[in-house]
Amino acid sequence: METKFIDLTNIKGQQRIVEEKIQTAADIIRSGGLLAVPTETVYGLGANALDEAAVRRIFEAKGRPQDNPLIIHVPSAQWLPRFCVDVPPLAYTLARNFWPGPLTMILKRSPAIPAAVTAGLDTVGVRCPAHTVTQAIIRYAGVPIAAPSANLSGRPSCTSAADVAADMDGRIEGIVDGGPCTVGVESTIVDLTVSPPRMLRPGGLPLEDLQRVLGEIDVDKAVSAPLGEGEAPKAPGMKYRHYAPKAAVTVFTGNPRRTAQAVVQRLKPGVGVICFDEFESLFQGYETHLLGPVDDKEIQAQRVFDALRAFDTGNVTEILAQCPDNRGLGLAIGNRLKKAAGFNVVDVEEERIILGLTGGTGAGKTSALKAVEDLGGLALDCDAVYYELLNTDPGLRDAIAGAFGSQVFNPNGALNRKALGELVFGDNDRLDQLNDIVFRFLRPELERRIAAFQGKLCALDAINLFESGIDRLCDCTVAVTSPIEMRVRRIMERDGIDEKYARLRVSAQQQDDYFREKCDRELSNTAETPKAFREAAKEFFKRLIEQIKEDKANGRK
Ligand code: TXA
Ligand code: MG
Repeated sequence: METKFIDLTNIKGQQRIVEEKIQTAADIIRSGGLLAVPTETVYGLGANALDEAAVRRIFEAKGRPQDNPLIIHVPSAQWLPRFCVDVPPLAYTLARNFWPGPLTMILKRSPAIPAAVTAGLDTVGVRCPAHTVTQAIIRYAGVPIAAPSANLSGRPSCTSAADVAADMDGRIEGIVDGGPCTVGVESTIVDLTVSPPRMLRPGGLPLEDLQRVLGEIDVDKAVSAPLGEGEAPKAPGMKYRHYAPKAAVTVFTGNPRRTAQAVVQRLKPGVGVICFDEFESLFQGYETHLLGPVDDKEIQAQRVFDALRAFDTGNVTEILAQCPDNRGLGLAIGNRLKKAAGFNVVDVEEERIILGLTGGTGAGKTSALKAVEDLGGLALDCDAVYYELLNTDPGLRDAIAGAFGSQVFNPNGALNRKALGELVFGDNDRLDQLNDIVFRFLRPELERRIAAFQGKLCALDAINLFESGIDRLCDCTVAVTSPIEMRVRRIMERDGIDEKYARLRVSAQQQDDYFREKCDRELSNTAETPKAFREAAKEFFKRLIEQIKEDKANGRK
């Protein structure tokens, strides 16, 4: 069969030609043909949804299993009552918020939709794509278009007409070129026939956006984990190996610096890499395809299928891929990568444990940190890191000088702590301002140091663990507490100060109850000597680590 190419890119100002081409495309649909159409998510392989014979041909052309239903594409929510029954008001609310766009709703099927479309289910997936070309084709054709993604079954989805041609040339009547897909991953699927609504597939519409409108929403298990034997997903398509390039894929989740390192450690001839732009230089000499910058998930979504497809033409036998976190579009991008890998996932954070220590002066945090080091861990005193950064990070110095004036630095370049202290002392707004600056530089530096550390246990010691947001880096927070009298005595000895001044220092800080309430655990120091406490702390951490490991293992199950 000869496949007709209908180019609808660069169409500005050519109204008549455009209309002719749309007409040609709509005719293919109306006459029972198969037509690949552009959408904002991925290209679809379309046919008239009301023509049973045409719909059957989609399954043939794709090599799609018969039990995997198709979704139908409509130009607006006004078409819903024609093809669905018992449409809940919530469907219209979602349509108002997110259509046209990357959202598919599962609704009750009306008899107008042939059973071949839905593989016999009494529900049907409906989507209103945000692509003017395909909207126009549907309106001209006057029928909904049933369309799965335009790839051969099991292969990565197509985000350009060229991708479609690679899979479908000669198998279908036409391919409409509408340019590259702007979203790049398929629509998010939400089942509205259950309460609360349930997300069956993450996609171009982030879960967080749905939560904003729906409030409660369940997430199908098949989204994040391989299914056990005998388990069936709600979206039949979620059970198949999917999106798979020819080479085997391993996906690495966790902190991007650490996943990059984990990939470096596994490099060998025949390996190809999918990585964030920032790490490209680590993989010179290996076929590498870039996912985009760590912080730009829109670009990552646009590129993920391209990257997976790109290896098929080379000699790569094994693909190692960095994976974004689950927030926003990351959930869909990660899902596609993990499915491409058959859920062969290495979580580099799995064994890593980060503890946050906090508590008042004299309680014993320093000895507790030493205990962490005794256990082979990395101990980071956040205060000390801050002072190091002051010497090494011009950005931090500039930010402080910009906010507080250059007089807070001595002529020799050192920070004049007294001058800065006088500016912020007793002025909460200015203190907050200073803390904002410090924490903004401190957090990424801590992350960098943790990522560079090869061992498993890390502890961060900060008196303002929670105020700084450093607690969010931690698996568990620990309050180091001690009776006031003992703390006073320790400070007097340690700093050579008198009792009155020691009491003043202790009372100027938050008290044990504050730390106790905020932290997950308490490590109480009633030991007579620092050495004895260090031993006790070591035992405490050993037990804690075992518990955290167990919790993590249970969380994974
Ligand atoms: O963005 C998209 O949704 C693209 C473009 C072309 O619109 N289409 C797409 O279709 O991704 P497809 O067939 O590749 O994926 C649709 C998924 C499949 O996993 C299928 O099992 C599921 O939707 N699905 C379809 N109808 C369903 C239904 N009635 N109940 C549950 N899941 C359904
Ligand atoms: Mg598909």
